Amino acid sequence: AGPRPLAGRTALVTSGPTHEPIDPVRYIANRSSGRQGHAIAAALAARGARVTLVTGPTQQPDPPGCAVVQIESAREMLAACEASLPVDVAVFNAAVADWRVAGEADQKMKKDGGGPPTLSLVENPDILATVARAGALRPALVIGFAAETRDVVAYAQAKRARKGCDWIVANDVSPATGTFGGAENTVHLIMGDKVEDWPRMGKDGVAARLADRIAEALAPSAGT
Ligand code: C5P
Repeated sequence: AGPRPLAGRTALVTSGPTHEPIDPVRYIANRSSGRQGHAIAAALAARGARVTLVTGPTQQPDPPGCAVVQIESAREMLAACEASLPVDVAVFNAAVADWRVAGEADQKMKKDGGGPPTLSLVENPDILATVARAGALRPALVIGFAAETRDVVAYAQAKRARKGCDWIVANDVSPATGTFGGAENTVHLIMGDKVEDWPRMGKDGVAARLADRIAEALAPSAGT
């Protein structure tokens, strides 16, 4: 396939956390570093794909050769992802907040002596599930991530079916592994009934191997 097996292909990658506003100065977020998602975007671009990276706030430099769209909230991430379609492959690595605050305050909330406010939460859109069910705009290959702390492969298989994606990269994020925010990852690539258990490796290694698998799957000779 040569060194640029994804030349002429387009890709969408999501990365990082989302920030869900409480008021103009406060938000709810999570500890995602964006390392894995940014590395995947870079690996796809290095193989010749035209990559749109939709990312929440991270400390990561923009990966070379990618169009980077910076967003904050899950709803902004969904809009940016939908705007990037159609693409050949979409990889959803972002740690999207499950909930956002209902009725974000448009002024900073004050300590007015009345005690702490009660925040009520509403569910965010599931970006992966939405794109996986986008009808004619559905990418040929839709890949999700599953972070689990036990029964990693079984839970990830169920998630694959529920979300309607083709592959799931399942990673073990039990605290002992140091995966969240760390430089390494232990993953299982779930492609339907086929499961590959990858050795523990750097997030760049995971990105390179995943990009190679994607190139194989999209290659005309790979069949269906
Ligand atoms: O349901 P859960 O958050 O465990 O699913 C993880 C997968 O779904 C990841 O690929 C993540 O990027 C994606 N996801 C999403 N939108 C959400 C929640 C998760 O795209 N609102």
